[in-house]
Amino acid sequence: ISKIGVFTSGGDAPGMNAAIRAVVRACTYYKTECVGIMRGYEGMIEGDFEQLDARWVGNILQRGGTVLKSARSKEFRTPEGRLKALGKLRSEGIDSLIAIGGDGTFTGLHKFHQEFGIPSICIPGTIDNDLSGTDYTIGYDTATNTAVEAIDKIRDTALSHNRLFFIEVMGRHSGYIAINSGIAGGAAAIVIPEETMSFEELYKILGEGEETSKKSNLVVVAEGSKIGDAHTLAKKVAERSSYFDIKVTVLGHLQRGGAPTYFDRVLASRMGIAAVEGLLNGKSDVMVGIKDNKIVYNNFDIIMQNHHEIDEESMRIAKILSI
Ligand code: F6P
Repeated sequence: ISKIGVFTSGGDAPGMNAAIRAVVRACTYYKTECVGIMRGYEGMIEGDFEQLDARWVGNILQRGGTVLKSARSKEFRTPEGRLKALGKLRSEGIDSLIAIGGDGTFTGLHKFHQEFGIPSICIPGTIDNDLSGTDYTIGYDTATNTAVEAIDKIRDTALSHNRLFFIEVMGRHSGYIAINSGIAGGAAAIVIPEETMSFEELYKILGEGEETSKKSNLVVVAEGSKIGDAHTLAKKVAERSSYFDIKVTVLGHLQRGGAPTYFDRVLASRMGIAAVEGLLNGKSDVMVGIKDNKIVYNNFDIIMQNHHEIDEESMRIAKILSI
């Protein structure tokens, strides 16, 4: 290993910059060259490279987004695209790769590794926290804090007007942001893709007309909810009854931006260094993870076979508190 290529790919996540910085500085520390590949697999195919050094990554630790930019590449999914990328890496002398991203990013890298045997390691960077093999992914803590801040603000206006709000948070296949921002934000109900709460059950929790019912309430809905997104659920409740004054807020991409929390900065720093050390110690086709606060390296296949389950304790807590 003498020249590592590092890139970010897929949806950006706060803390990616901290991970890039850690990779580059670890490379400097271990006297290994490091090249930035711009715009993920797109830049790899086009040979859009940037020589990185310890100073280049100064003053990025605290910034959201990714200075290497990101993209979801269609061309890299084709054998021709991957061949083009290989050619560009070879002509630049890049002999190993570190990818920062989510499951789509890893799938691409795994395929590339299988085809051409390039030593490669993934760092989990996604706000969804949906990767098994790690307790936390980079960006999840920041995104959840952003969601909680927004929920608190919505609560103020919901209370003032006695309104029922459906708040949609991100997570196409994962309810992590929803369950924990819901618990922290005091939601009356939390709807996540992993749980099979029916609409009837949800309606019952809202408790129309019952003595315990509150006219002002917050329901947090993960975008991947199996019983409908926030707009659909709001419409269904409105069709059933005029008891509630209903509003919908979709938090959307604001959850992906902003300065990373201390937690994400430290996590990214640890994982960035672990990725470089892993490559230098002969590891490949693995994802760096954190389990019980210790760095681990997970076989790629195991990551992809398993869903990162939401622990039953969180589900239990959410139910008890929604009374
Ligand atoms: O995977 C991260 C994520 O933010 C998901 O929560 C969300 O469903 C998706 O990306 C949105 O992707 P895009 O930015 O491409 O619309």
